[in-house]
Amino acid sequence: MDSTAAPASLSRHLSSVAPPPRLFHSIYQPNSSILCLAATESYIFGGRQSGDILVWDHHLYSKKAALKGHEGSVLAMEYAVAKKWLFSSSADSTVRVWDTVDLVPLYVLDPYLQTDAGDIYSLAWSQSRETVYFGCQNTSIQWIQFGEGSAMAPHSSQPRPVHKFFAGSHPQYQHTMSADSASELAPTQSLDATSSQVQCTVLSIPATNIVSSVHHGYVYCMAISPSPHQGSDDILYTDARSCIYLVTGSGDESVKLWNCSSPAPVLQYTFECNQGAVLSIVVRGETIYAGCQDGYIKILDLETRTLIRTIIVHENVAVFSLSMLHSDLYSVSAKGQIQRWSASFDCTAESDGHTNSIILSSVITYSDESGQFQLVTGANDGYIKVWNIEPPKSRDHLDGCFHRPVAQREVESINDTMLYALSKFISIPSVSDSSQHREDCRQGAIWLKKCLNQLGASQSILVSTGETTNPLVLATFQGARHGVSKKRVLFYGHYDVMAAPARDWQTDPFNLTGMNGYLYGRGATDDKGPIMAVACAAAELLRKRSLSVDLIMLIEGEEESGSAGFREAVRKNKSLIGEIDAILVSNSTWIDETTPCITYGLRGVVQCSIEIFNDQPDLHSGIEGGATAEPMIDMVKVLAKITDENGRVAIPQFYERVRPLTEEESALYERITSITKRSTESLSSKWCEPSFTVHNIQVSGPRNPTVIPSWVKSQVSVRIVPDQNLDTIAENLCKFLSVTFSELRSPNSIEVKVNHKADWWLGRLDDEWFEALEASVRKEWGVTPLRIKEGGSIPSVPYLEKEFGCRALHLPLGQSSDQAHLPNERISLLNLRKGKAVIERFLTAVGNK
Ligand code: BES
Ligand code: MN
Repeated sequence: MDSTAAPASLSRHLSSVAPPPRLFHSIYQPNSSILCLAATESYIFGGRQSGDILVWDHHLYSKKAALKGHEGSVLAMEYAVAKKWLFSSSADSTVRVWDTVDLVPLYVLDPYLQTDAGDIYSLAWSQSRETVYFGCQNTSIQWIQFGEGSAMAPHSSQPRPVHKFFAGSHPQYQHTMSADSASELAPTQSLDATSSQVQCTVLSIPATNIVSSVHHGYVYCMAISPSPHQGSDDILYTDARSCIYLVTGSGDESVKLWNCSSPAPVLQYTFECNQGAVLSIVVRGETIYAGCQDGYIKILDLETRTLIRTIIVHENVAVFSLSMLHSDLYSVSAKGQIQRWSASFDCTAESDGHTNSIILSSVITYSDESGQFQLVTGANDGYIKVWNIEPPKSRDHLDGCFHRPVAQREVESINDTMLYALSKFISIPSVSDSSQHREDCRQGAIWLKKCLNQLGASQSILVSTGETTNPLVLATFQGARHGVSKKRVLFYGHYDVMAAPARDWQTDPFNLTGMNGYLYGRGATDDKGPIMAVACAAAELLRKRSLSVDLIMLIEGEEESGSAGFREAVRKNKSLIGEIDAILVSNSTWIDETTPCITYGLRGVVQCSIEIFNDQPDLHSGIEGGATAEPMIDMVKVLAKITDENGRVAIPQFYERVRPLTEEESALYERITSITKRSTESLSSKWCEPSFTVHNIQVSGPRNPTVIPSWVKSQVSVRIVPDQNLDTIAENLCKFLSVTFSELRSPNSIEVKVNHKADWWLGRLDDEWFEALEASVRKEWGVTPLRIKEGGSIPSVPYLEKEFGCRALHLPLGQSSDQAHLPNERISLLNLRKGKAVIERFLTAVGNK
C-alpha cells in the first residue's frame, strides 16, 4: 500500500460552480514589483517599490500618470469611494491622500513622532466615521478623522482645522508645503490640472490619535467592519450595525478586534492564529478572513469570537492578499496562484495567475459600463493582470455567513464535506497492528490533525505516546463565550483500523465506496465514520455560531492493538487537555438494523498468548513420530481443560463477583426482546457474564501433514463483567494455564503472556448527561433509543472516567450488520448523517444547561 497520505485540504475542488477567472488584460511594467493595488471605475493604481504610484486607464489600459511623492516603497493603498480619495502608505513613514479625479495630491499625513513609526504597512478607511487608520512598523495604530464641516477642500493650500476635537488644542499639527509631491505626467499625456507646483497640506497626527504597542509585531494588514465589498448584497451589512470595528493582523501571528465607536480604538479581542504572520485581512458581515504566512486562511467569527474554519491554501506559501466578491473569497499567493473559495470553503477555482512569481496584491472592481466584475492582481514579475470574474450564482451564499434560517443546501454542503473528509481518511491504511503500516498510521494522524484544524478546531496537535507507538491527535473546538463557564466534553475515538486483506473484500477496503445507501471501507464504522460525524457536527455548530461547549477530541492510534502508551500520554498532557465534564464515545453499533441505541456497558477483556515448545527443530512425523512429546498435543490438552463438558470455564473464581441482574435491567431487556426477538438469555450471556474464547493456533514449520511443529502458539481471551477484578482474573488465567500444563508432566516448555487488558465499563442511566443524549436521539430519529450493553471492550473508556473524574456516554452510530473488524465493513449513509445531527443536538443541549 502506498504510504503517502492523502493531501490534507478538505476544500473540495468544485469546478462546475462558476467559470474560473478569465484573463482579460495584462499590464507590463518591466523591472517593477507591484506591492499594492487600488482601482476606481476610471483608473487602476499600482504602488511600486520605487515609491511612485502608476496610474492606468481602467478601460484602455494605457498609462495615465505617475503619482510622485513617496520616498520609499508604497506598501498599501485604500480607495475611499464617496470622497474619491486614494490613500497610500509607504516605507517613508508617511501616508498620502490623492484626488483620484484630477490625480493630484491632497494631503501628507505625518505619523506621530514622524519617522519613529517606521514602514506604514496597512491602511483602512471608515466611510461612516470619515477616518483613516494606519498600522505601523513600530506596532502603533494611528488615525485621523476628516470630519464633517472640518474636511478641507481638496485643492486648498490653506491649512484648516481637520476636526473640532483638535482644533483648539493642537493648532500646530498642520502646515502647508509646496509639494514635490505631484503627479508626473506620462510622456504621451497632457493634463493641465496637474503640475509640479501643486501644494498640499501636511497633517501631523497628534499624540491623542495613536495607540502604541498594539501587537507584538508589525501591523501588516487591517480592515474595517462593516466594510463595503463589491456586489450589491453587501448593502445589507453596511448599515445594519452601528458599531464599527477595526481588525488588525500582525507579524505576531494574531488578529485583533478593535471597537471604534469612540475616537480611540478599544481592544475587544485577540484571535491567536499561530500560522505565521497575518499578512492579509478581509471582513464580510460577521466573518473575518485572515491570510497567513504559512499558507492558511483563518476564518474567524466577529460576534462569537470563535475560529470557524481553517482553509489550507498551499502549505508554507504565504497568502499575501485576499479579496471578496459576494460570498466568494479570492486568495493570491507567493506561488503565483489565484484561488477562489466558496461560502462552504470549497475551492471552486484555481489558476496559475503569475507563473513562478509572487502575487503581492489583489483588488476587485466593478465596471458599470460593462457590468463586469474584475479581479486585478499585481506581482513581482512586473505584471498587473486583470481577470474577468463572475459572482457566485445563487443567493444561498448569504446563508453561509449570517444568522438566517439554515437552508437545506447548506446542510448538504457540510454533509458533503463530511463524506469528502471521510473518503480521504479511509484512504489512509492506518493499521496499527502491522509494522508495515507504521508510516501510514503517522500519516493518518497528521492528516486527521489538519482535518480537525480545517473543520474549525482552534488547536490541533499530535501527542507522542512513545517511540514505537502511534501518536494521539488532540484537538479543541472552542465554544463561543457567553460569560458563564462552558461545559467541556471530551470525545474519545481511534483513527487506527484492523487489517483488511483485499482478497476478502468486494471493494477496495481503502477506497470509500458508496453502494445501496452504504459506505464501504475499512474504518467506516470502527471508528473513522463516527469521528468524522462528531468533527463535522462541531464544524456545523461553529458555522451556525452556536457551539456552546468546548469539544475536545482525543483520537488515538493504538486502540485495536490495546491502547499502548495511551494512559501515560494522557497523564502527561492532562493540563493541556484541561478539566472535563463528560466523555463521549462512539465506537460500537446498534443491536439491529433499525432501532437507535445508546450503549451503557462494555465487558472487559484479558488477551493472552500461550506458547508451548521444545528445544528441537521441526521433525518429519514418519521418521520421528511417536518418539517425541509433541507441543501441539500438549497445547490441545491444555486448551481442552479450560472448559468442561458443559462449556463452563474451569478457571478458579471465573464466575465470582458477577453482578446479578437488577429488576431495572430485566425491564430493559424486555423491551429489547420485544423489538429484536432475541432471547433475554442470549443478551445477558453476552453482556453480563464472563466468557472464554480460543482465537487461533499457529505452528512452526511448513504446516503440511508430515511435519511435527517444534513450537505451537495460541491466542485466547476472556471477557469480564461488573464487578469482576481485571487483575485477579488475568492472574488466575495465567496460573491455571501453567498448573494445567505442569500436570501433563511434559518435557516441553510453556510461556504464557498477557498482551492486553481492558476493564469493564458501566455507564449511568440516571444522569442528566445520559438524559440529554437520549433526548437528542429521540428528537432526531423520532423513537426512544434502546438502552443496550455490549460484549466488546474499549480499554480507554473506564480509564478516562477515572482519570478525569467524570462519566462516559457511548453513542453507537452504525447498525449491527456493519461488519467491524470483518471484510466489507460499512456504515449506512443515513446513520452517519443522522448520527452527526444527534451529536449536534446533544452538544447544543448540554451547552445550554
Ligand atoms: N469498537 C471495538 C469495541 C467494541 C466492539 C465495543 C463491539 C462494543 C461492541 C474496539 O475497537 C475493539 O475492537 N476492542 C477490542 C479490545 C482491544 C483491547 C483490542 C475488543 O473488544 O476485542
Ligand atoms: Mn475495533
